[in-house]
Amino acid sequence: MKKEIGFIFDLDGVIVDTAKYHYLAWRNLANSLGFDFTEVQNEQLKGVSRVKSLEILLDIGKVQLSQEKKEALLLEKNEEYLEYVYKMNSNEILPGVDRFLSFLETNKIKFVLGSASKNAQLILEKVGLLERFTAIVDGNNVSKAKPNPEVFLIGAKKLNMSPTNCVVVEDAIAGVQAANAANMISIGIGNAKVLSEANYVFDSMEAITSDFLKNLIN
Ligand code: BG6
Ligand code: MG
Repeated sequence: MKKEIGFIFDLDGVIVDTAKYHYLAWRNLANSLGFDFTEVQNEQLKGVSRVKSLEILLDIGKVQLSQEKKEALLLEKNEEYLEYVYKMNSNEILPGVDRFLSFLETNKIKFVLGSASKNAQLILEKVGLLERFTAIVDGNNVSKAKPNPEVFLIGAKKLNMSPTNCVVVEDAIAGVQAANAANMISIGIGNAKVLSEANYVFDSMEAITSDFLKNLIN
């Protein structure tokens, strides 16, 4: 018998590979402030809110700025990021995502988005996936960032399910921790050593097999 179960997907790094665009925009900002920002350092920004990302970046560059200047830089970074986002289309949906969503749709399992991004709705629109989600919970709906479970708990409400019946798909450590804190099942996408706190880990969305999904829902 099928369990009553719902899915909550992170966006950046799970549905689309926007981390590369965030990186380009943050690196430009770092360079304009006179320091370099590497791809390895960029790992620290995954799953982290925009405001917190700037704090981490300024710490790396050992730069101190007024609140006013920080706000101007946040706007500037987002404007550059949006230039990449506006050029996105369905080719940027990560391999395996469409198959995963189709599997859920075929089995009448609802899914929502649970993302830290304030650009989530726009990105889903650009890649043509917005209509498939039952609801979007994003950076505009939460006051506490991951690893706080708030975003996923709101997601569970939108699914009309108790947290223990929700499965979260995440690529960031902070996101896996948020799912665990919400008492949800966590599927990590990425490096198993990095995401060791997840209940299950796959290298990529494409690596998730239909058999695994069938077992999870039955
Ligand atoms: C997360 C990304 O999904 O959203 C972070 O992993 C990003 O890198 C955060 O900082 C906030 O995104 P945005 O689009 O609101 O700047
Ligand atoms: Mg992510």
